[in-house]
Amino acid sequence: MIDLVVYDASQVATPTDDGEMVTIQDGAVAIKDGIVTAIGPTEEVTRDHPPENSANTIDAAGKTVLPGFVDPHTHAVFAGNRADEFTAKLEGADYQDILAEGGGILRTVRATRDASRDQLVGNLLAHLDVMLAHGTTTTEVKSGYGLDVETEVKILEAIDEAADRHPIDVVSTFMGAHAVPEDTDTDEYVDRVIEEQLPIVAKNNLAEFCDVFCEEGVFSVDHSRCVLEAGLEHGLKPKIHADEFERLGGSQLAADIGATSADHLLQSTEADIAALGEADVTPVLLPGTAFSLAAGYADVTDFEAADVPVAIATDFNPNCYSQSMEFTIELACNGMRMTPASAVRSATITAANAIDRTDGTGTLREGSSGDLVVANVPNYQHLPYNFGVQNVQTVVKRGEVVHRD
Ligand code: NIG
Ligand code: FE
Repeated sequence: MIDLVVYDASQVATPTDDGEMVTIQDGAVAIKDGIVTAIGPTEEVTRDHPPENSANTIDAAGKTVLPGFVDPHTHAVFAGNRADEFTAKLEGADYQDILAEGGGILRTVRATRDASRDQLVGNLLAHLDVMLAHGTTTTEVKSGYGLDVETEVKILEAIDEAADRHPIDVVSTFMGAHAVPEDTDTDEYVDRVIEEQLPIVAKNNLAEFCDVFCEEGVFSVDHSRCVLEAGLEHGLKPKIHADEFERLGGSQLAADIGATSADHLLQSTEADIAALGEADVTPVLLPGTAFSLAAGYADVTDFEAADVPVAIATDFNPNCYSQSMEFTIELACNGMRMTPASAVRSATITAANAIDRTDGTGTLREGSSGDLVVANVPNYQHLPYNFGVQNVQTVVKRGEVVHRD
């Protein structure tokens, strides 16, 4: 018995594992035991897998079928919000000044320390629901609003519990080195991350990746290297927030250390981009962050010229409050001037590379996971073209309909 046949789609559009965009007019996808078993023209797929023999069917007439989106960079576990800082920034306040005055990340840390694990699970589940409604079927989630061992563990446990209760596949990243807490200095805090936090996180298997905010006034390249090398010793793969406000050398460090991804990269130079490409580090660009800070976008043409494919992500956090990969795709096009094909590829197959999921996540082909979205548009170009509305209508995870508008 087939779980699901999606048929008569105006277009099925998917990148291949190599990132090539493939489109099928009047397309169909059949999913069995949660895995794509056939993809092609409706006539062929339904001949071998008649919808009447399937447990479930979706008539996708007039709509586009795409792989489920992958969001490879979020800070989705926190308490409280910073809507008032949003207003202050619109009136001229600066992100780094707010942080230096104990606001920003540090304020979210205070609220998150005060929250119970159950509250954090509830908050995260609500955010995962919004992500899913906008087409995300796999997401990364970072800790980093604890900055002490109890709260970092509480956050990572909350991620685990929410992941167990939600259809989205969640990948955990430990980011104790997100900011320096108010009671200490950077040297001492880096020691705490390495001596107190990392061993417990690793021992309890609470994270797959280790991330660090390598930035002027936060963690230097040397500090970042110490944290990421310690993470590696504990079996956590490195990721890094690099070259966002200042070009400290975070992307060179990512290349050196063999990070899975380097993220932000607003100030990266051609040499940095070449180093990332050579070391097979996936660049992750975050157009929502630039949008919400009203800062310049990363220059995609530099990455394209170097033939280094980029991923895109929401960077969902209290400062960049959007859970939507649909909107991120729109911003990638309308803000960063990516083509719709590049943006879709960046939100699917390349985003999967950025979290080391190279098993067919982010593509629809025989043998890949049956994760897909049905969007109410005639072809994939219309996704970013028709911006500011919800185009995603139905979301399927491992062959099961998990969201329907
Ligand atoms: O990726 N840059 C550091 N971390 C987040 C912001 C977190 C916050 O402001 O709460 C980011 O943009
Ligand atoms: Fe971030």
